[in-house]
Amino acid sequence: MVEETIQINAWLYTSEFVVAQSWDETKAMSDAFSASNQSYGITGFLISDGHNVMQYIEGGDSELSTLKSKIMSDAQHNRLTTHCNTSLKERAYPDWSLKAVPPSDYEDLFTEIEAANRMSLGVSIARMLFDSIFES
Ligand SMILES: Cc1cc2nc3c(=O)[nH]c(=O)nc-3n(C[C@H](O)[C@H](O)[C@H](O)COP(=O)(O)O)c2cc1C
Repeated sequence: MVEETIQINAWLYTSEFVVAQSWDETKAMSDAFSASNQSYGITGFLISDGHNVMQYIEGGDSELSTLKSKIMSDAQHNRLTTHCNTSLKERAYPDWSLKAVPPSDYEDLFTEIEAANRMSLGVSIARMLFDSIFES
């Protein structure tokens, strides 16, 4: 678990892959991101059906800003929309450097976070947006 006393920031966005991905491709990509996130103290999740993407990430100010710039300029996806950009007292996802789930596992993901009593504004917004992004 990543513990810290500094303020951390959270970012929630949605986007669309330019080239549709299989779940195996998305998982392999997310596993590589996860390894990198671990070294920068970034935690969060990525939900994708191979076309739509919803990613929520948390981290220290400079680490999150750096990653955010990279993700925003990444040509693998487009139509990126920020839904929440906020600061937090504690992480909602301290244990996951990047948990990747298909939309069908979404309920388990949120059940796990609710059980830990660590819902954040970004996570609540993710929950509200989920149907319009993945079930349209
Ligand atoms: C949908 C999506 C999500 C991404 N999430 C992460 C992430 O959580 N962590 C990460 O290091 N890179 C992520 N990336 C990749 C970055 O945009 C960037 O390519 C990567 O950080 C390598 O950048 P660098 O080679 O300039 O260091 C993501 C890319 C896409 C398209």
